[in-house]
This record gives sequence, structure tokens and C-alpha cells, in this order.
Amino acid sequence: MITELLVLAVTGFLIFWLTTRRPKNYPPGPTGWPIVRNLFQISRDIPQHRQFTELGKKYGDIVGLYFADRPVVVLNNYKHIKEAFAENVFSGRVISHLTLYRNLGGNRGLLLSEGRPWQEQRRFTLKTLRDFGFGKKSMEALIMEEVNELINGFKKEVGKPIVTQNRFNIAVLNGLWLLLTGNKFSHDDPRLNFLVKSITSIITRRPLSALVAEFFPVVQKVRHLFPGFFNTQGLQTHKAVQKLIRETIDEHKATLQEDAPRDFIDAFLIESNKTTDVNSSFYQEDGYLGLHIVLLDLFIAGAETTSTTLTWTFLTMALYPEKQEKLYEEIKGVVGLSRSVSLTDRAELPYLEACMMEMLRFSAVVATGVFHRTHEEFKVTTYDGEPKPTFDSLASFVLFPKPHKVVLVDRNSTAQS
Ligand code: HEM
Repeated sequence: MITELLVLAVTGFLIFWLTTRRPKNYPPGPTGWPIVRNLFQISRDIPQHRQFTELGKKYGDIVGLYFADRPVVVLNNYKHIKEAFAENVFSGRVISHLTLYRNLGGNRGLLLSEGRPWQEQRRFTLKTLRDFGFGKKSMEALIMEEVNELINGFKKEVGKPIVTQNRFNIAVLNGLWLLLTGNKFSHDDPRLNFLVKSITSIITRRPLSALVAEFFPVVQKVRHLFPGFFNTQGLQTHKAVQKLIRETIDEHKATLQEDAPRDFIDAFLIESNKTTDVNSSFYQEDGYLGLHIVLLDLFIAGAETTSTTLTWTFLTMALYPEKQEKLYEEIKGVVGLSRSVSLTDRAELPYLEACMMEMLRFSAVVATGVFHRTHEEFKVTTYDGEPKPTFDSLASFVLFPKPHKVVLVDRNSTAQS
């Protein structure tokens, strides 16, 4: 009996030790539970970045965690994050089995891809979007159509409390859809509403079973085998969005004119058609599937971020009417009330610009960024230049800068910070 108890105790201790031990030089952090380690110590009900900040107060600017067997290192200060982003070794992503499933089985797209495909797709996307007017004045007229539609909608509700939910994302998504696919939806088109709802649901929190499946692939198999027992809405939504994207790409394929690209999809298909390098992410089937994921990523990354920032801006302006008044006075003085504000007015509207910058900082809609993975060993220095321990090459990174103030100064004297 004593021997059995002893074996049990030693086995228990070994399991505990093996599943909670941390490598030498790993950054300090809370001790985890066996097997799942720190995974459930980060609450799903409190914004992650607040919890990381609290951990930072206790363990320092670099906190070491484990989500099951995945090392996760949180960089809690601006200097480390800036340093990390400047290094190519930090540009990897965590490509888990769920990511592969979402990326149609490959290292594809922009948000959750790494290495050569990420570089190729990123370079192409930036260039092509710019060619089609993204961030330029030529896109302004298209954006203004959406803005005017929004304003007209709001005008009908003057004097009443306004529900902003879904207002901005419909306009933003429609603008993105136009830029990428060459077409616009009318605001009451069910396909637009379906896209908006789907994208919102994709980025809102995952059911617990999906979170666990990320770290324990067997749970994903069980989810697939018994979908009735789990919340698999996310999977269905993904499939439906992919279907809409596929139909749109196929329509473009059928009407493509190689010498006259109409939009981003055409430009991508043309690039794919002329690619002969079998290792390129544009090559044949890989290129075709890659286009699906690039589009999905642009909708996910672009729509909700922009519209949530706008919602925060409205809320903040409502909470600080004196700032709203100041902004109004600046616009009235520079632009007048007979026309809309244009990109060309930007240099003359420093208060508006400062408010927008402050909104981006204050709303912090993607506070923890997208997890980064390192490809090889690296070092991060501290403020005083002391070298920090070298971390595991598999560490994931949550990069969260501490807030800093936007200070408005005279444009003619020094630069703004
Ligand atoms: C207020 C608006 C936006 C905010 C706050 C925002 C924020 C971010 C953040 C924090 C990241 C993660 C960076 C990283 O960790 O590497 C990111 C990545 C990305 N965003 Fe945005 N974003 C905004 C608008 C947009 C728009 C309009 C688009 C495109 C139409 C877009 C496309 C992307 C893409 C493709 C990535 C992945 C980049 C890469 O991995 O190379 N974002 N964004």
C-alpha cells in the first residue's frame, strides 16, 4: 500500500513538474497549473491588455507565460515593442492547426501568415491597393459617398438618441468591398448585412471549446465529430463568408481582361496567371486560395477596426461637448459650412488631426496586436541597455505599448509628438 502511494505521489509530482517547469532564463511570470499552465489564468471577461499591464506591475516589462505548451512572452513597454518590430525575427505568426484550417490548409493571407508568402502578399497588397487609390485623394470621392449616406441617415434622427451599432461598419465595409471587388452594395442589400454580421461575429470572442481546441487538437476533432454539442457558429460563419468571396472571385475570373484590371481581385488574378515559379504564393491553386484569405484578412482587419474607432470617436465627442465645440469651430473657421471637409484641408486642421490621433490611442481597438512569433533566438535590451535573457525561439509575442500623450504644438515651430 505504501509503495503504491509512493509511486502515485512521485508520478503526480513528475507530471506537475514536467507540465509547469519553465526553461532557464525564461522571463518571470505567474506559476501555471499543470498541463494548461497560464491558459485559464488570463480571464476571458477582462480585456487582455489590462491583465497584462497588471502582470507587468508585478513581474516587470517582460512577462513570461505559457498557454498550455505554447510559450507566450508579453512585452509591456514601448521601447521593447519598438525594438522588436524593427527585427525581422519577430515577424512570424503562430500557425496552429486551427490557423491552417482557417487559411484553407496553407500558410496564406496577410494576418496569419509568415515567411515568403507573407512578404509576397504584403508587398503586392500594399502596392496594388495604392495603385487603386487607397490612402489617396482619388479614393476620397468614393468614401464621401458612404459618408454622405451616413450623414443623411443621422440627419433623420436629429434630437433623438442615436444607436451607432452597425452604422459605421456598413459604410466602412462597403467602401472596402468597392475597392477590392469593384462593386458596391446598397445599404439594405442582405449580402452586405450578412458580411457585416459575420465579420463582427468572427472577431468577437471564441467559444471556450474553440479556445481549448487551439491548444489541444483532439478537442477540435471532437468538435467536428459532435457539432451539435458545441458552439460551432464560427466555423459555419467562416464557410459562408468564404462562399461569398469565392463567388465574387469566380465572377471576376469569368470576365477578366488581362490588360484592363478593374480592381484588386483582377490585379491579383493577373499576377497569379503570369506566375511560373512553383514556390510562389501566387502560383496556380495556391494563388487562387491565397486570394480568398487575403480578401478575408482585409475585411477582418480593415472593417471592424475603422468602424469601432469611429464609434469611440462619437462617444467621446458626446462625453466631452467642449472638445466637440472646439473641433466644430476649427472646421467652421477653415472649411466653412458650405462644403465637406477634404483631405486637402488636413494641414490646416491640426486640432482635428490631434483628436483623431488621440482617438486611435484612447480606443486602442487592437490593444494587444496580433500575436507575433520569433523565428530564431533574439535579445531585447532594457532601458539602461543591459542585455535581457535570450528567449525560446518559439515564443509568441503580445505587443502592447503603454499609452503616451499626443501633444499639440504650433506646426510652424517644432514637430508634434
Ligand atoms: C483604425 C483602424 C485600424 C487599426 C487600429 C488597425 C490596427 C492594426 C494592428 C494593431 C495590427 C497588428 C500589427 C501587428 O501586430 O503586426 C494590424 C494589422 C493589419 N491591418 Fe490594420 N488597423 C486598422 C485599419 C486597417 C485597414 C483599413 C486595413 C485594410 C484595409 C488594415 C489591414 C491590416 C492588415 C492586412 C494587417 C496585417 C499586417 C501584416 O501582418 O503585415 N488595417 N492593424
